[in-house]
Amino acid sequence: MTKVPRKFYEPLAIGAPQPYREPPVALERMIHFFPPQNEKLRAKVPDMAGQVDVLLGNLEDAIPADAKEAARAGFVEIAKGADLGTTGLWTRVNCLNSPWFLDDITEIVAAAGNKVDVVMLPKVEGPWDIHYLDQLLAQLEARHGVTRPIMIHAILETALGVENVSAIAAASPRMHGMSLGPADLAASRGMKTTRVGGGHPFYGVLEDAHGEGAARTLYQQDLWHFTVARMVDACVSNGIKAFYGPFGDFADSEACEAQFRNAFLLGCVGAWSLHPKQIDIAKQVFSPDVKEVLFAKRILEAMPDGTGAVMIDGKMQDDATWKQAKVIVDLARLVAAKDPAMAEAYGL
Ligand code: GLV
Ligand code: MG
Repeated sequence: MTKVPRKFYEPLAIGAPQPYREPPVALERMIHFFPPQNEKLRAKVPDMAGQVDVLLGNLEDAIPADAKEAARAGFVEIAKGADLGTTGLWTRVNCLNSPWFLDDITEIVAAAGNKVDVVMLPKVEGPWDIHYLDQLLAQLEARHGVTRPIMIHAILETALGVENVSAIAAASPRMHGMSLGPADLAASRGMKTTRVGGGHPFYGVLEDAHGEGAARTLYQQDLWHFTVARMVDACVSNGIKAFYGPFGDFADSEACEAQFRNAFLLGCVGAWSLHPKQIDIAKQVFSPDVKEVLFAKRILEAMPDGTGAVMIDGKMQDDATWKQAKVIVDLARLVAAKDPAMAEAYGL
């Protein structure tokens, strides 16, 4: 049973803000993780905010058990104090069955509910997880006078979550999007890799035998192709955004870039940055290519009402390529609004 449309958009608590019909438009090429218990890093937050699209205070994995409360308190301090401009402020809370989740949510919404844009919920397994957080957020928003809905971003990182990905994406108007979590997902599925994202040298297709003793090449394949594509379909068909998550080998920028680019080409709008050098990689990959933008602008100009067919540089354009061009130019406009150098390069 699904909710009837009218009920779907009703606030889940009296006094909670009206759920969004259309999620706010935001540029989110990278979600930059920081450990909020670290005082030195907290001091750098205002600086950091100028360099990234989203800043996320991480409370979950990678934060030691004995630092969980300090991380939560550090995040609250940041959220209350900082003016981050157009940069999004998110937090990744601990998972629903952990000893920390309830205090994470109740304390953060109480102290800084009007400052937090998105709560990232790990290890989501089905729509029931979203429904629970949805109701709880509405109750807390009502109690603490929060004036706009805090959105939910799910991490897709269990086999059951992947099985239910469409129902998760459709679970609430509070859904912002989803990120692929390759580390937990690999563990949950029993995949035989210890890496955080990226390829694996043994996962490939061996070329045909060609002559006695001739060496045969193993062409590496993408371990994450299926899941990313499935996640993109679930998200986009529900009007929410898909992201690639973490890339753990900080030393291998080329592999990180390749992983981010595959995700971008398949429809993802951003990825996580866990190390400062991944910020620029994400910026480069998830901003549309200048040549592509210039060409896309020509398509839009040649077909002002988006219908018909024209030839540009020998290539056929029609209503469908007009829509492709619009996706690229709309994204370029968001980038241009944030970045004057890119605005000039795009001519926007
Ligand atoms: C992210 O949380 C992951 O498990 O990859
Ligand atoms: Mg994880």
